[in-house]
Amino acid sequence: MKKWNVAAVRSAKGRQKLGCTTAYDFCFARLADEAGVPILLVGDSMGMTTLGYETTLPVNMSDTLSAVAAVARGAKNALVVGDMPFGSYQCGDDEAVKNAVAIIKAGADAVKLEGGASVCGLIRRLTGCGIPVLAHVGMMPQSVNSYGGFKKQGKTRDAADQVLADAKAVEEAGAFAVTLECIPADLAAQITAAVKIPTIGIGAGPVCDAQWLVMHDLLGLNEKVPSFVRRYADLAGVVRSTFAKYVEDVASGVFPA
Ligand code: KIV
Repeated sequence: MKKWNVAAVRSAKGRQKLGCTTAYDFCFARLADEAGVPILLVGDSMGMTTLGYETTLPVNMSDTLSAVAAVARGAKNALVVGDMPFGSYQCGDDEAVKNAVAIIKAGADAVKLEGGASVCGLIRRLTGCGIPVLAHVGMMPQSVNSYGGFKKQGKTRDAADQVLADAKAVEEAGAFAVTLECIPADLAAQITAAVKIPTIGIGAGPVCDAQWLVMHDLLGLNEKVPSFVRRYADLAGVVRSTFAKYVEDVASGVFPA
């Protein structure tokens, strides 16, 4: 099976569309890795998927480091990207570098952070230290309070120009790929044509170089999902009925035999 690294992801642009997902623990990371998923993002979406919060904002470095370590133990071939949680890179570049180093030491191959032109200095510094950076523009969930909800971005001409400028800026600063989240499909297509690094879309239409689907959405573990999500399984139903059968079997004496 192919071993994925940053160079392989970059050179996939225009040749192979990559179906990428998130992972937060050893078990699912191992299964996704064995299935050939090229990039596993230890996303701060763990705030909602595994920690039960309403947003990604409460996720901290300690949540991130233990999840990155578990995913890295399960991933033999996938590129493991650790998402920098809110607060870990907003309080000065020295602290941001320290936190990115900790994520790499926990087992990630690269880090992801949200922002365009405003984080370019930090991207330059991290890449200068040998830490590959996956950028994230468009709808940035860590800015949910500024948007007043998880809202599609880049809808007006000016807003679209800003997202395009941000994508070009993070490429210029040295990001090896850029996430485009919840922007119009034609804008995502325009950005994909305008930058040389791969674009990884989520809710950004079909023309991106790669796609993210949050693992719990993809597997049907989340019952409430955004409209762009395709559930490839209904694990919520399977898991619920399996637990119910077990409880029933113990109550009736069928298990243990
Ligand atoms: O945290 C996450 O899962 C993400 C993806 C939506 C790209 O940032």
